[in-house]
Amino acid sequence: MINSKDTNENDLMDKIVSLCKRRGFVFQGSEIYGGLAGTYDWGHYGVALKNNIKQNWWKKFVDGRRDIYGIDAAILMNRKVWETSGHVAGFVDPMEDGKQFNVMFKTQIGAGDEAVVSYLRPETAQGMFVNFKNIVDAFHPKLPFGTAQIGKAFRNEIAPRDFIFRQREFEQMEIEYFIRANDWEKYFEYWKSEMLEWMEEVGLDMAKVRELEIPKENRAHYSSRTIDFEFDYPFGRKELFGLAYRTDFDLKNHKLEYVDEVPTSEGTGIPIESKVIIPHVIEPTFGVDRAILALLLSAYTEDKQGGEIRSYLKFKPNIAPVICAVSPLLKNKKELVEYANIKVYAPLKEEFGRVAWDDNGNIGKRYRRQDEIGTPFCIVIDFDTLTDNTVTVRDRDTGEQERVKVSDLQNYIKEKI
Ligand code: GAP
Repeated sequence: MINSKDTNENDLMDKIVSLCKRRGFVFQGSEIYGGLAGTYDWGHYGVALKNNIKQNWWKKFVDGRRDIYGIDAAILMNRKVWETSGHVAGFVDPMEDGKQFNVMFKTQIGAGDEAVVSYLRPETAQGMFVNFKNIVDAFHPKLPFGTAQIGKAFRNEIAPRDFIFRQREFEQMEIEYFIRANDWEKYFEYWKSEMLEWMEEVGLDMAKVRELEIPKENRAHYSSRTIDFEFDYPFGRKELFGLAYRTDFDLKNHKLEYVDEVPTSEGTGIPIESKVIIPHVIEPTFGVDRAILALLLSAYTEDKQGGEIRSYLKFKPNIAPVICAVSPLLKNKKELVEYANIKVYAPLKEEFGRVAWDDNGNIGKRYRRQDEIGTPFCIVIDFDTLTDNTVTVRDRDTGEQERVKVSDLQNYIKEKI
C-alpha cells in the first residue's frame, strides 16, 4: 500500500486540489472570471464534509457538555469593538517594505453622510466577549463556563496561499472558556487534551500533529501563553489550530465583570461570599478549513486494486460526506433500478441523508468514484437481489464484498458509524 507518506509531497497537494475540484468538494472562488485570490467555493461534498466536522465539534463541545453555551453573533460589529479589542492598532502583518499592514477588511456601513467605517470580523471570538453580559444574565452560569461559536472570519492576508490553508475568507470554531485567574494553568492543560482528543476522534493523522510553544514576541497581542498545534502539510509544518491564554484582556477592555459566588465552607453551600471579578479566558480555536485540509491529507491513500493504482479518501464513516452509495448493477434494467430506488435508496436516504445514487458507467468506475469521495460502503443491487433480497456491500478500504439482507442494511451501517 502506498500511503500519503510515501507519495511525493508536492504531487500530493496537486492531487488533493484536483480531486477536490473533480469530485465536487472545493472550487476556486469566482473561477470563471479568473478567480479571486484567497477565496474558495464549496461543492456538494465539501459542504457535507464541513457540516460533518462542524456538527461533530458542536456535539462534543456544546451539546455533549453542561458548561458551554452556543452563540451565533453578527459578522458586522460596531467599530468600537475592534478599537477596544486592540485589533485596529495591533492586528497587523509586516509587508515586504517593512510597513505594518492591518489585515482587517474595512467596510462601510450605511449610506452618504450617515456612513460609518467598520470591519468584517477577523475572529469570531469578539462576538462572544461582547455578549458576555447577555449570556450571564440569560443563563446564570457558574465559573468555569464557556461560550462556543462557529462562523466566518475575514482577513485581508497579504499572501493567501496553499489552497484552503491561508484564505481571506474562512471559518472558525472557537471556545472562550471563562475561569478564575488562579486556575488558568489547570484549564490550559485540560483544553490541550480536549483538543487533541477531538483531532483524534475526527481522524486526523496524529503522527503529523505537533505542539509548538509560541514565544512571547510571536504571540497575538492578547495572549500570555499560546500553543499552536501544527500539522505536517506537504508545504511544511504549519499551524493547524491554536490554544491561547487570553487572561482578562478582552473582558477588561470591554469593561465586563462577573459576580462570583464562592462558597466559603466547602460542601455546605452556605454562607456564600460574592466578589466582583473579571474572569480570565482560555481559548481553544479551530480553523474549519485547515481541519478539512489536514483531514484530506490524513485520509488520502493510494493502493493497488485489480492491478491498477487507485486513490481513495479513508474518512471515518462519521465524517465521510457520503455514508453509502446505492447502485443498480445495470442502469437500463427497469426491475433492478426500481428495486434499488424504492427498497434500498429511499429508506437509506431517509434514515441517513448523506446517501448517493450512482448508476453512471460500469461498476468499476462507480467504485473508483466513490473511493475518491471517501464513501465507506457501496451497495449494489443485482439479479440475485430480486430473488433473495440481499445486496452486495463493498468495503472502501479492503475492497471486500459481502452479501447483506436488505432488511439488515440500516443496522449494518449504523453499527459502523
Ligand atoms: N480567536 C483567536 C484567533 O483567531 P488565530 O490563530 O489568529 O486565533 C485561529 O486563528 C485559527 O483560524 C487558526 O488556528 C487557523 O486554524 C484559522 N485561520 C487563521 N487564519 C486563517 C486563514 N487565513 N485561512 C484559513 N484559516 C485560518
